[in-house]
This record gives sequence, C-alpha cells and structure tokens, in this order.
Amino acid sequence: MKTRSFWIVLAVYVLIYCNGVCGKNLDIIFPKGEKLELDQEYLPVIGKYTGSDKELKLMLNNSSINTIKLEKGNIFTDKIKLNSGVNELKIVNGAETQTINILYEKEKKNTQSDYVKVLIHAPILDNECSECHTKELKDKYPSVDVSKVICFNCHDSFEKNKFVHGPIGSGACTACHDPHGSIEVRFLRENKNKICYMCHEEESITEHLANLKNSNKEECSYCHDSHGGKDKFFLKEIK
Ligand code: HEC
Ligand code: HEC
Ligand code: HEC
Ligand code: HEC
Ligand code: HEC
Repeated sequence: MKTRSFWIVLAVYVLIYCNGVCGKNLDIIFPKGEKLELDQEYLPVIGKYTGSDKELKLMLNNSSINTIKLEKGNIFTDKIKLNSGVNELKIVNGAETQTINILYEKEKKNTQSDYVKVLIHAPILDNECSECHTKELKDKYPSVDVSKVICFNCHDSFEKNKFVHGPIGSGACTACHDPHGSIEVRFLRENKNKICYMCHEEESITEHLANLKNSNKEECSYCHDSHGGKDKFFLKEIK
C-alpha cells in the first residue's frame, strides 16, 4: 500500500511539472490562464525563465511597465497595478512572448463573459514568499521543502483523522492545491469533480457511481472528505 501511494503521488507531480515547463523557456507559474478576471487592483505574477537572457520586459496595454533583471535561478515576480477594464499583460523576452488578458472592473458591471475568476492564496497577495520558500540557500526563491510542515504553519493539520487519505499521509498537499492560487475553488489544480481522477481510475469509479442512488453523484466531496475522516472511506456525515 505504502509504495503504491508513493508512485501514484510521484507520477502526478511529474505530470504537473511537465504540463508547465517541458519544451519552453518562459514559464508563468502564477497566474495560469489566458483570460482571467480579478477582484482586486493588483495582480501578483510569478514566473521562471530558463533561457540565457538576463532580463525580461513587462508590457501593459502595449506600453512598457517594467524591465526585470533575472535573478539567480531565473525566477521573477512582480505586482501589476491594473486599469479598470481589460488589461493586456505581455511578458516578453527576445524570442518568446506570453500574453494574459485580465479583466478588472472597479465598479462591477455584472456582465457575462468568458473570463474566469482567479483566486489568490492570501500569503501571495501579501507578498510573503518567504513564509514558504526558505532563505537558507543563496537563490532568492529556492525550491521549497514541499512538506506538510509549510501548510501546517498556518492551517490545521488533518492528523486527528483516524483514516488519512493517501496523499495527505505523504504530506503532498500540493498534489491537489496550487500553493499560489488558481481558477478553481480552494486553489485546486483541477475542477473539484475531476481532481480525484488524477489518481483514481475513472473506470473503477464509474462502477462505484453506478451503485449510488444519490443525485449528487458527480460531486465527490459531497460524500467524501478529501483529507481524511473517522471511517475508511472518509465519508462525511450527510444530513
Ligand atoms: C503558501 C506557500 C507558498 C508561498 C506563500 C509562495 N510559494 Fe512559491 N511555491 C510553493 C510550493 C509548495 C512550490 C512547489 C511547487 C508546487 O508544488 O507547485 C512553489 C513553487 C514556486 C516556484 C517554482 C519553483 C520551480 O523551481 O519550479 C516559484 C518560482 C515560486 N514558487 C515563487 C514564489 C514567489 C515569487 C512567491 C511570493 C510572491 C511565492 N512563491 C510564494 C509554496 C509557496
Ligand atoms: C503564511 C500562512 C499560510 C501558509 C504557509 C499557507 N496558507 Fe493557506 N491560507 C492562508 C490564509 C491567511 C488563507 C485565507 C484565510 C482562510 O480562508 O483561511 C488561506 C487559505 C487557504 C485555502 C482556502 C481556504 C478557504 O476556506 O477558501 C486553501 C485551500 C489553502 N490556504 C491551502 C494551503 C496549502 C495547501 C498550503 C501549503 C502549500 C497553505 N495553504 C499554506 C495562510 C497560509
Ligand atoms: C486529494 C486532493 C487533496 C489533497 C491532497 C489536499 N486537499 Fe485540501 N482540499 C481538497 C478539496 C477537494 C477541497 C475542497 C472541499 C470542498 O470545498 O468541497 C479542499 C479544501 C481545503 C481547505 C479549505 C477548508 C476545508 O477544509 O475544506 C484547506 C485549508 C485545505 N484543503 C488544505 C489542505 C492541506 C493543508 C493539505 C495537505 C495536508 C491538503 N489540503 C491536501 C483536496 C485536497
Ligand atoms: C494525488 C493522488 C490522489 C488524488 C488526487 C486523490 N486520491 Fe484518493 N487515494 C490516493 C491514494 C494514494 C490512496 C491510498 C489507497 C491506494 O493505494 O490505492 C487513496 C485512497 C482513497 C480512498 C480510500 C480507498 C480505500 O479503498 O481505502 C478514497 C475513498 C479516496 N481515495 C477518495 C478520493 C476522492 C474522493 C478524491 C477526490 C477528492 C481523491 N481520492 C483524490 C491518491 C489520491
Ligand atoms: C452519495 C455519496 C458518494 C458520492 C457522491 C461519491 N462516493 Fe465514493 N464512496 C461512497 C461510499 C458510501 C463508499 C463506501 C464503499 C461503497 O459503498 O462503495 C465510497 C467509496 C469510494 C472509494 C473506495 C472504494 C472504491 O470503490 O474504490 C473511492 C476511491 C471513492 N468512493 C471515490 C469517489 C469519487 C472519485 C467520487 C466522485 C466521482 C465519489 N467517490 C463520489 C459514497 C460516495
């Protein structure tokens, strides 16, 4: 059981990593997406550049707003002040450009649009990178110790649960949650009804769902607590 858990969790990490980085030099770590909506005026941007240029340009609505000298490890971050309306943010280095369109409305007009709201984890909004990234190494933002300890500095641990869900046992909070933020509720990496299939075979679950009478079948977390619980299948008490 233990080794199987390890391999499943490792495979997911490789998938997540390759999805973002394999094959290109400029990787926007946060925010992810091309058409995003924001509730507040400032957008934190986090990225990684693995090419050989020493600086990057940030352009907002075609005017240059910042030139960033690339740090050790070529990680960059900035906080962008948005205008009311649609903002076109371009992150440019010699050969590569990445564009993100961001909708921010000072006064909500309540219009339907194809922009998806991005949710930002509180410490990112407050620019508290060092809450999670150690400063011991020389790099400005060295790779983190992805242990549960980081999250438990501010959140309750789930250790009180008699049965602990596989990835929780190995401290892999970030298998499901993006530590910086995302477009899904609770900063999930995937839609909350699809995230279970990153590790559980859809086929076996289809069979399981067919046996359920409940109309909320697709909503896994209607019945299961993703972190653990007092019985084997982490079932919630449903009223
Ligand atoms: C709540 C904890 C937390 C905070 C706060 C945080 N990070 Fe992270 N960050 C992580 C974790 C955990 C990872 C590991 C990758 C993953 O699991 O997505 C990561 C990954 C990264 C990476 C990718 C590293 C790599 O080698 O691919 C960069 C770059 C980064 N963070 C920069 C920042 C910056 C800049 C800030 C501040 C604006 C910040 N982080 C704030 C937890 C955090
Ligand atoms: C420096 C403190 C800090 C650290 C470290 C931290 N968080 Fe948070 N987190 C917060 C705050 C503050 C909030 C917003 C208040 C709240 O909703 O609880 C929040 C909110 C959340 C939420 C949304 C909660 C909700 O009710 O919508 C999730 C999910 C979350 N954090 C996951 C994580 C994960 C996973 C880690 C580890 C990678 C982590 N956090 C590390 C401070 C932190
Ligand atoms: C298997 C995927 C998965 C893993 C791993 C995971 N979570 Fe979650 N987490 C979820 C889902 C799904 C929700 C949303 C449940 C809902 O809102 O219905 C959630 C919600 C949360 C919330 C919001 C409050 C709550 O309890 O609902 C916090 C905080 C949180 N997770 C922290 C963590 C921390 C810390 C870890 C690591 C110990 C972790 N999560 C690991 C899937 C996961
Ligand atoms: C990151 C991988 C991962 C994700 C995502 C994930 N699981 Fe799991 N889950 C595991 C592992 C590992 C086990 C341990 C059992 C095993 O080795 O098959 C497990 C076990 C379980 C069990 C207990 C099964 C048993 O027979 O004891 C349930 C129930 C469960 N998961 C539900 C869910 C639900 C619901 C979701 C979505 C919210 C989810 N899982 C998402 C990895 C994951
Ligand atoms: C209406 C409640 C309910 C919903 C919704 C639900 N489950 Fe379950 N689940 C259960 C119960 C009860 C069990 C205990 C074993 C059984 O009766 O099949 C279980 C068992 C499991 C198991 C372990 C046994 C097995 O069949 O492998 C996994 C994994 C699982 N569920 C995943 C999921 C996922 C993923 C979803 C969402 C697609 C989901 N469940 C939706 C109630 C639910």
